[in-house]
Amino acid sequence: MHKLPTWLLIIIVIVFLGGVIQLIPYGHTHANPPITGEPQWNNSAIRELTKRTCFDCHSNETNWRWYTNIAPSSWLVARDVEEGRDRLNFSEWDKPGSQKDFDEIEEVIQEGEMPPFQYLLLHPEARLTAVEKQDLIQALHASLAK
Ligand code: HEC
Repeated sequence: MHKLPTWLLIIIVIVFLGGVIQLIPYGHTHANPPITGEPQWNNSAIRELTKRTCFDCHSNETNWRWYTNIAPSSWLVARDVEEGRDRLNFSEWDKPGSQKDFDEIEEVIQEGEMPPFQYLLLHPEARLTAVEKQDLIQALHASLAK
């Protein structure tokens, strides 16, 4: 019997497994629940900045890009959005549970923890300059404190 070269076997196994993991029923539901209430933004620029850098995970306006359909990245994104919305959801500001980690906003922006590193790799547009960080912190305080 012909023996397949090892490299070809490896490729076949990878492609096969790559297909099988697509069947795992997690990360396929890309629901954007209704927007029930937003903070009273002081101005539209600050909403835009927040939208550019935080909304994909902390709002109900997630932009589900193509790679969010493909495992395993679909799993990681689904988890980020679930946890992100749970901590802070700018689209459900009228609900008490939407602002759990409100007090930590300044710190996570200041220290560069948010937006998360892996997100910035794919979304360079969400990088905040030092000036934008200060603007965002100040503006979020001003807008959200109301
Ligand atoms: C890629 C998705 C994503 C983006 C974009 C993102 N976050 Fe998060 N955020 C998360 C996840 C997931 C958690 C909870 C788990 C954790 O802390 O990593 C979180 C947690 C937080 C917390 C709670 C404190 C903490 O560390 O758990 C705050 C505050 C926060 N985010 C603010 C922001 C702000 C402000 C922005 C925009 C500048 C932002 N996030 C952008 C995913 C995201």
